[in-house]
Amino acid sequence: MRLLSLSFLLSTCLAVVAQNSSSNLNNSLSLTPAMGWSSWNQFGDSINEQLIMETIDSMDKSGLKEAGFIYINLDDGWQRYKGDRKDHPGPLEADPVKFPSGIKALADYAHSKGFKLGIYSGPGDLTCAGYTGSKDHESEDAVLWASWGIDHLKYDSCCSHADAPQAEVQAVVRTMSLALLSSSRPIVYHACHCGWVSVWEWAAADGANQWRIGQDISDDFNYPGNREKYYFDVLDMLDRGANLTQYSGPGHWNDYDMLIVGLEGKSGQLVGTGASDVEYRTHFSMWAMVASPLLIGADVRTLSNTSLTTLLNREIIELNQDPLGKPADVAWESADKTQQIYAKVMADDSYAVALLNRGGATADMNLNLRRDLTIPWDKYRVRDLWKHEDKGPYDMPYSVEVMAHEAKILRIWPVEKTRN
Ligand code: GLA
Repeated sequence: MRLLSLSFLLSTCLAVVAQNSSSNLNNSLSLTPAMGWSSWNQFGDSINEQLIMETIDSMDKSGLKEAGFIYINLDDGWQRYKGDRKDHPGPLEADPVKFPSGIKALADYAHSKGFKLGIYSGPGDLTCAGYTGSKDHESEDAVLWASWGIDHLKYDSCCSHADAPQAEVQAVVRTMSLALLSSSRPIVYHACHCGWVSVWEWAAADGANQWRIGQDISDDFNYPGNREKYYFDVLDMLDRGANLTQYSGPGHWNDYDMLIVGLEGKSGQLVGTGASDVEYRTHFSMWAMVASPLLIGADVRTLSNTSLTTLLNREIIELNQDPLGKPADVAWESADKTQQIYAKVMADDSYAVALLNRGGATADMNLNLRRDLTIPWDKYRVRDLWKHEDKGPYDMPYSVEVMAHEAKILRIWPVEKTRN
């Protein structure tokens, strides 16, 4: 199935470029990556009003809201109809069985509890799960979502459309961007195109606040063979983002896909056999380091204490929400690439560092400030953000044992700055 016809491409492109070449598509939103929950990874399209309200209540009580997880995003499956929009004329409707009170009532509920509500659609005749899409109804849909009180839109042109030409994808992203801006409601805009057609190079200029860098994540830390079969595990996704950090920053973020923490291999939607607690902690830490949106994908009502503790680590969340908005880069890696050091500078001039052991055995890892961070601090102190312990000061490389698939997450401050 092609995304849109070539004739539509030409006419839309020319019209859009002519009308809007000088428009400012910056909506000034998402100055830090969006944090919240999304329904897809655990539930697929089996969602309903009661589930969403219970999710809101649970995130309120468990402290997840306080920690910053405020977007509650309905993914595909909230719509009434499957099939082409032409067969279902009139405004988009919520499924009356799944959402008997309607989406506006749900948004009101979310807002009354201090959350925001997100919704999902796509630029084709159909969404990725076959529900009616927004093609040729972009303005009407944006106005409708705004009237419901929607705060976030995932607009998904589907991972199956790898062959859609860039200009075509760009035109549909831009068309919805303009529609959202005209709706006059601040709506964070996720232009989801599964990492095709170098979306990171142009989507920010076309008004997107986030874009996926790859196909769907699987519930695996490292499962060789997955990528060939469409899914990206945690390490695949990290590698996919490694050369893309220059495109991410305040207002426009590389999206490494929704979190798998807590899925435990029991997702009704994703493939994968689950990951260990250490691997989920590493995944969460690394998504924070690379400044990805942090959207919980598991059922928050039944999270284990360990998963909840992982998601509630405020010192890790602080790395993600730092106002400087720098994604971490690979600062050093071993010749066999089993050990990597990721680093990023923070707004207060400290550094966040991840010592990542991708290998299958415990390893001694060393952080050498001059080699790895190119910073000339003679003495520095270290805080271990999982042990919540201060260490140092040190005037030599920092050494630590890192378990298989563990990441030690450190924050480093100077004690004595430069010796020239
Ligand atoms: C695509 C996206 C997923 C999800 C589904 C919904 O596969 O990549 O994240 O939104 O569509 O149908």
